[in-house]
Amino acid sequence: MTSPRPLSLVTGASSGIGAEFARQLAAGGHDLVLTARRADRMETLATELRERYATHVTVLPHDLADPAAPQMLCDTLEQRGLQVDWLINNAGYGVPGTLDANDWTTHADSLQVLLIAPTELAWRLLPGMRERGHGRIINVSSLAGHVPGPAGHTLYAATKAYLIKFSQSLALENQSAGVNVCALCPGFTGRNSTTSPAPATR
Ligand SMILES: NC(=O)c1ccc[n+]([C@@H]2O[C@H](COP(=O)([O-])OP(=O)(O)OC[C@H]3O[C@@H](n4cnc5c(N)ncnc54)[C@H](OP(=O)(O)O)[C@@H]3O)[C@@H](O)[C@H]2O)c1
Repeated sequence: MTSPRPLSLVTGASSGIGAEFARQLAAGGHDLVLTARRADRMETLATELRERYATHVTVLPHDLADPAAPQMLCDTLEQRGLQVDWLINNAGYGVPGTLDANDWTTHADSLQVLLIAPTELAWRLLPGMRERGHGRIINVSSLAGHVPGPAGHTLYAATKAYLIKFSQSLALENQSAGVNVCALCPGFTGRNSTTSPAPATR
């Protein structure tokens, strides 16, 4: 089934910048697929957007720290006939402390969410965008990706710098196919999610 309206997949849509992306895209006439772990928050947002904009919203809860999640998510999209026009790779958080202050699982999970999942989602969804001749990928990086890495939150700035370089290459590789790719580099928004596993580093 091809939606007559653009369909956007927003990761990390349960709060903050991801939820705002969802609101803005719905206001702009997009249908939505929302993913994050907190299904209750996404369902509340989905209800708001359906009522306000008549948006078709699909909520697919996943833990993107699970290496199987990107494929499971894309398999579900395919089964439901949902073709993603815009991918908003937004889910992310920072891990406080130095490299040796955290166990490996904590670091591995953050690399999976911040680096592998957005890369894999782009890899899985790009072929369809290219085939249809249009698409957009926005990788939510950070100003932290531009400035020298600080002591503490060791992997955060490195992963955000990766997203900038990744986006630049992907943009060059896909512009002639009608697929636009960019990195969004916000500064500090002044809000903080108290329910994320670790305070988000900006
Ligand atoms: N706010 C800023 O000042 C700022 C500045 C620059 C860049 N950024 C970047 O902007 C993005 C959004 O940040 P935010 O400030 O809006 O933070 P936030 O309110 O804490 O939102 C983070 C989102 O990521 C999701 N997430 C975290 N771990 C996840 C996991 N394992 N699996 C799936 N989803 C996960 C969270 O959902 P669940 O907890 O429900 O899973 C939540 O929806 C992040 O990439 C952040 O690095 C933020």
